[in-house]
Amino acid sequence: MTTSPLSVAVIGAGMAGRSHAAAYRQANTVYGPGLPPVRLAAIADANLPLAEDAARRYGYERALPSWEAVVDDPSIDAVSIVVGNDLHRPIAIACIEAGKHVLCEKPLAGSLEDARAMAAAERGAGVVTAVGYTFRRNPAIAAIQRHVRDGELGDLTLFQGRYWCDYACSPASPLSWRFTGGSGTGALADIGAHILDTAQLICGPIASVSGAQLSTQIGMRPLPLGPVVGHNAAPVSDEHGEVGNEDTAIFSTRFRSGLAGSFSVSRTAFGMPNALGFDLFGIAGRAGFDFHRPAEYFFDDRQANPRTRGGRQVIVGPQAPYFAGGYPMEAPGVGGGTAEMFLYEIRAFLEQIASLPDPLPQNASFADGLHTMELIDAVVRSAGSGGAEVPVPESTHQS
Ligand SMILES: NC(=O)c1ccc[n+]([C@@H]2O[C@H](COP(=O)([O-])OP(=O)(O)OC[C@H]3O[C@@H](n4cnc5c(N)ncnc54)[C@H](O)[C@@H]3O)[C@@H](O)[C@H]2O)c1
Repeated sequence: MTTSPLSVAVIGAGMAGRSHAAAYRQANTVYGPGLPPVRLAAIADANLPLAEDAARRYGYERALPSWEAVVDDPSIDAVSIVVGNDLHRPIAIACIEAGKHVLCEKPLAGSLEDARAMAAAERGAGVVTAVGYTFRRNPAIAAIQRHVRDGELGDLTLFQGRYWCDYACSPASPLSWRFTGGSGTGALADIGAHILDTAQLICGPIASVSGAQLSTQIGMRPLPLGPVVGHNAAPVSDEHGEVGNEDTAIFSTRFRSGLAGSFSVSRTAFGMPNALGFDLFGIAGRAGFDFHRPAEYFFDDRQANPRTRGGRQVIVGPQAPYFAGGYPMEAPGVGGGTAEMFLYEIRAFLEQIASLPDPLPQNASFADGLHTMELIDAVVRSAGSGGAEVPVPESTHQS
């Protein structure tokens, strides 16, 4: 058992930063011995009152006004980077150079160039570097991954994935950092990154992209008059600025195995607040998942009782990965959701740092994060060339 405390800091006190803050706070309590004891050292945000509020609520020792203050503090061992994507590169590289372990939120970076620099910094870094693909730890998704790995669906024939949200449906939503990058930095990077990672976790690497179309439904948005947190409404000016990236993307893929995939991603999908989902077919079975019902999945195979042929909803419980030992109430049917997925992600990060002998599967690496960025770039290039097939470079690491 590891006894020396690990000092952690969260950079970003916004929507996702609070999920990291809560997960570090719970990790020792829920998982008990084995993990290094966590010292909740600091939460940093350029919006200091927001950092102060988060530090007080989640029991962190200090609130800091900048990410630089975290980098400059030699007592901090590990850092979550949970700010807008353009800031990931400078913060991650400064943390690595300061000898701190880094868990960076997805997408890895605000641009492909930044992602390449981060993946280069990861090589030989001497610290743990990880990317926050929370859905990897959903027990139902992990159970489907296991069915496929064990050949229970037979050879795969089709993957159809989606991530639909509606946070950008209102034209009154302010022009926050989410809307200001170039093509590929909108819905594709924000939510598409998750379904692309999930698809590859289950079906293996994607080799090429084709038939892409990007579109923007709301081209101008009001400028915010103050800080914006997550997708929240905020006071806005009468002045408007141009939205620089896509609200919606559709595209097809070919996996390295030869499997065909199709994807749709949108932040203007009315009535769908947070709908990651997919259907997966094989010659001997099929599986499906919809995050609106995160504690269950659909499964059908040839072993089905003839009287219930046609498949069934499986309620996840301790028989699924990431469940036993991971929930305060670990019983079938108790559900699970985003908070648990963040908790598992933080647990995996802490286990990686502590080099535990029998850890959870590791988090995605920066190399994996770069691969998703290469995929997003291929979608953009396919869309820019009338839907042409664009190859995706092979990843240097698939976790
Ligand atoms: N894994 C997930 O499910 C998930 C969900 C939501 C967001 N995210 C990711 O988390 C990251 C943050 O997203 P969010 O929705 O929490 O954003 P947010 O806008 O709610 O919060 C970002 C915070 O960063 C702060 N900030 C800006 N500049 C700063 C600086 N120079 N130094 C310190 N703080 C600064 C802002 O004041 C803001 O509070 C993004 O990369 C996003 O893609 C991941």
